[in-house]
This record gives sequence, structure tokens and C-alpha cells, in this order.
Amino acid sequence: MNAQPAKIARDDTIKMDSADPIAHLRDRFELPEGDIYLDGNSLGALPLGVMERLEKAVKKEWGQGLIRSWNDADWYPAPQRAGAAIARLIGADADEVIVCDSISVNLYKLLVGALRMRKDRKIIVSEIGNFPTDVYINAEVADMMGCELRCVMPEDVEQAIDAAGENLALVQLTHIHYKSGRVYDMAGITQRAQNLGALVIWDLAHSAGTYPVQLNECNADFAVGCGYKYLNGGPGAPAFVFVARRHFDEMNQPLRGWHGHAEPFAFTQEYKPHPTIDQMLTGTASQLATLALETALEVFKDVDMNVLRKKNMALGDLFIALVEQELGGMGFELASPKNAEARGSQVSLTHENGYAIMQAVIARGVVGDFRAPDVLRFGFAAPYVRYVDMWDAVAHIREVMDTNEWDRPEFKERRAVT
Ligand SMILES: Cc1ncc(COP(=O)(O)O)c(C=O)c1O
Repeated sequence: MNAQPAKIARDDTIKMDSADPIAHLRDRFELPEGDIYLDGNSLGALPLGVMERLEKAVKKEWGQGLIRSWNDADWYPAPQRAGAAIARLIGADADEVIVCDSISVNLYKLLVGALRMRKDRKIIVSEIGNFPTDVYINAEVADMMGCELRCVMPEDVEQAIDAAGENLALVQLTHIHYKSGRVYDMAGITQRAQNLGALVIWDLAHSAGTYPVQLNECNADFAVGCGYKYLNGGPGAPAFVFVARRHFDEMNQPLRGWHGHAEPFAFTQEYKPHPTIDQMLTGTASQLATLALETALEVFKDVDMNVLRKKNMALGDLFIALVEQELGGMGFELASPKNAEARGSQVSLTHENGYAIMQAVIARGVVGDFRAPDVLRFGFAAPYVRYVDMWDAVAHIREVMDTNEWDRPEFKERRAVT
């Protein structure tokens, strides 16, 4: 007789939390009592200290210091300071990353800048199903620069790179996919494209702050990433941009503004790009948002990204095992890689009634999100998500299904943000 695998009990998950080496990080967040927050891949939780920093910035530095605070409160170099804190998390040097604008805007700057570095080449390779902002901006820039954008299925990317050959200018990919959580081989793809003389731009929206990205070890050229997801910078937090130091001289980004100038306060009429990563700036930083992000990043100060990664893989594995144990025959399909190494910090399930199920689950305080047409996303931000949350979340989903709670009309009403 085959022995049945032992059922995972709630107590087992509590034991896993007791053995978690980074469990203490949860105390550094303001989390609503009773909620199980599984959407740090969309909007990170509020780190303690951010509110106080913003209060000080508004009341004292802005209210009293006024314009003097750009110098006296050290506002001016905040984009560089926050960039340096992020650099440590993504394997870059402190002076290769700067915080500014959104991913969308930074991607535009990098795409045009990189294509200007490969003027005689005409092909851009990207992915079908990439995040829409990447798709739209890739398409627009390709059109504007007279290039051909080749979007292929993830499994065909390497072949598309090889097929483009010496005409390949650029590869633009999202390292961890926003819907499935699938992880690309950053080192392998970068090297493959570079062997042909091309450049690569990585979107780290779902990697920074949750995956031990090694940009310089992978010899990466360029990257962008998000401040409001795993870095917990707050709604609409500024993004970041990475340029490998070897490209500082040749990079020629198109959004020439005074903050990217070599001497912004010389007020000259001629544009001269700053020789450092500062050249990626355009206009004045969104100062309060930048200070919020800078403060939020303190959570990561002594965190070993490999330990954090180990935990989010284990959370994902546990969640999948519990889904198999508790939700069999209910119509759910796993839409993320089962192998933790190939999966980022989220697990996605598909279900034909996915939208209503997610709304019913959120009403119970288990907060994930929904991506059309049928994907329920559950994100596991290791600094504040617990193993027991996996057990409780799946128990709630099961109740929502067992009782047909999801079928109530209020859960079928589509809201603007899903
Ligand atoms: C992979 C990816 N890229 C880009 C973005 C959007 O970035 P932004 O709002 O900073 O332009 C998102 C947002 O969710 C994303 O998931």
C-alpha cells in the first residue's frame, strides 16, 4: 500500500514561522489587524518610520525650511541616496542606480538611448505578453526609430535573438513576469544578446526587493524597476533606473531636462549631459515620494537577499501544496511555474470565476489581486508574509468556494482597479 503524504496542518505552518530567520522584519511594517496581505507585488505595505519622515518633511522641512531645505535638509541628493540603497539589492554599484520618474518614462529614456548606441541595427526582441507599458513603449520607440519590434513567446526568445543576428540592436524583457511569476535567465540571455553585439534592458518591477538580482555579475547593460511594489515606497513611488558604468559616456537619453545636465544650476542654454548616472534625471524629483521611498528602503539595510529569496520560494511552495491539498476539483489551475527556482515571489491561479472569487476573498481580508482574463495573483513579500498566512488564505478560499460565497452579485461588479 502506498503511504499517503501527510496532510499539512495549521500547526506545521506556525512551526515554520518560529524557525523563520527574518520573521522579525514583519514588526517593521504597519499592517492592518486581521488582514492577510498578499499583494506586495502590486503595492508594498507601509514600513514604520515613513509616516514620521513625511511628517517631518512636510511640517518642518517644507513648512519651516521652505526652499532652504533643498540644501539644509539634503533633499537634493535624495534620488542618488535611494538609488544607492536599491543598488545593493540588485547587484549594482551604488553610483549606477538613480531614483526618478516611473518605469514607463525610464524605459523610454533607455530604449531611445540604447538604440542611439546601435544606430546601424534595426531589430528589437521582446516578449508576447510582456507588461503592457513595456509593450506600448517598445512599439512606439521602434516605430519612431525605424526599427522592427519582434515579440515572441518566452520559450522562443533565445531563438529570436539568434535569428536577428548582427541586426539585433536590443533585447527588452521583464525579468519576472507580472502574471505568471516566471523568471528569465538574466545571465544567459544577456550574454547571448551581447555576443551578437546587442544591448539588453531588463524590467525588474517584480524582482527588486524580492529576488537577489546580480546585475553586474550578469554584465547587464540597463535596467528599470519599481518603487511601489516590493520596495514598499508607497502608491506611485518613483521608479529607478540602472545604467552600467561602462555606458555612461555613450548613453544619450532623449528626455533632456535640467536635472540631467552636467551643471543644472549654471542655467546654460546648451545641453551637456551629466557624466554620471545623474544624466538619467529629467526634471525636479517628486521630493516627498522620494523621501518616503528612501525611508522605506531602511527595512532592507541588513537583509541578506538570499535569505529573503529562500523564504519567498518556501512560501510559494507551501501555498501550492495547500492549494493541491484543499482546493482540488474546484476548477483552479496553477498558472505559475511549480518549480520554485523558476518562479518569482508570487503564485498565480486561473479560474473561470476568478474575478468574483478574488473579490469574495478580499472581503474576508485576504488581499490578492486579479489580472484579466482569469488570473488570481497571490504575492508573497517575505519581509511581512508568514507561513501561517498561506494556511489561513487557502482556508478562506476553500470556504468561499464551499459556500458559493463568490456567487453573490456584489462580487461580480467590476471596479476600476482590479
Ligand atoms: C513589469 C512591469 N513593468 C512596468 C510596470 C509599470 O510601471 P510604472 O507604473 O512605474 O510605469 C508594472 C506595473 O505593475 C509592471 O508590473
